Amino acid sequence: MAKVLVHLRLIAGALALAFVVATAMPAAAQQPNSVNPTAAAVKEQQLLDQFKTIKGLGTIPDTKSYVLEHPAGRDWREFRTVTLRWIGGIAILGILAVLIIFYLVRGMVKIQSGRSGRTIVRFNTFERFAHWMTATCFIILAISGLNITFGRTLLLPLIGPDAFAAWSDWARFGHHYLSFPFTLGVVLIFLMWIGGNIPNKVDVEWLKRGGGIIGHDHPPAYRFNAGQKAVYWIVVLGGGAVAATGYLLMFPFYGTTVSGMETAEVVHAVVAVLFIAAMLGHIYIGTIGMEGAFEAMGEGTVDLNWAKEHHSLWLEEEKAQTKGVGQARPMGTPAE
Ligand code: HEM
Repeated sequence: MAKVLVHLRLIAGALALAFVVATAMPAAAQQPNSVNPTAAAVKEQQLLDQFKTIKGLGTIPDTKSYVLEHPAGRDWREFRTVTLRWIGGIAILGILAVLIIFYLVRGMVKIQSGRSGRTIVRFNTFERFAHWMTATCFIILAISGLNITFGRTLLLPLIGPDAFAAWSDWARFGHHYLSFPFTLGVVLIFLMWIGGNIPNKVDVEWLKRGGGIIGHDHPPAYRFNAGQKAVYWIVVLGGGAVAATGYLLMFPFYGTTVSGMETAEVVHAVVAVLFIAAMLGHIYIGTIGMEGAFEAMGEGTVDLNWAKEHHSLWLEEEKAQTKGVGQARPMGTPAE
């Protein structure tokens, strides 16, 4: 009796197995090209090709978090890991190369008539405070932002994962918090200097004559020449664009969708790297590129001969008002 039972169990098992095989095989045979999304061997690319978007299931109300991949996300990843690095690398290294060559060929733009030893006030304390606050924040935002773009490729192999993680944490912290004084600085710069930065006919002439930087001419200019006006508008518009897109990234999905966030990141990153390249040019002219320029933002005054050569119309205006003109340097203080 026991033997019969064992045989019956074997027969039942064999029949069950045959039934499973028989029902599974036709299903596979009927849909040879279909993708079973739960099959372990299925390729991510196959899934994406077939369904365009890979979505999971979820129970939380935020349904967009169920989307694991979508085609635009792949384009965005390609942009972040390839295109952006090329744009940033070419813009930043390109401008550095141009500035080095320019310096080697042209050298520093000197005060041709030499220093007079008498100075004129160019920027007051509040203007210099706003400038340096914005500039300091900008430099830290630039370094911490570039760490997001290039750090993993350039820095991680050099300093190792622990140091890179610790530094990146600080960098992200700095990037987020310094965005607030930076934005305030951009607003102050906009309001303080808008009056002197509206383009006019004098700018066209200044540009035609190479701005006194290419060649040795001294075209007239009011308080800000065409080059400085360009820097002003880059700061106001570029600063405005990075701030607006930066806050969209910092506060995700407040009024933005996934593709809105992707667009904000692309705009933020491209404007940021071009902004950095432009500011390298500004820093060059303000330091080793032009004699007597740094003290305008350092001490707040410039030599009268510097003002005559670079901002003759402004000097005339100031003389007419006789405000702060001819303020002699204390004895023994060199003019630089
Ligand atoms: C109000 C000003 C700004 C805000 C609110 C802001 C915010 C942000 C945020 C939230 C991110 C993403 C970072 C993360 O995921 O932790 C980011 C990335 C970035 N930021 Fe800013 N930022 C500002 C200004 C700047 C400035 C002035 C620069 C450059 C000079 C800059 C350069 C970058 C760069 C290069 C990235 C990385 C882009 C990438 O590779 O994806 N940002 N920013």
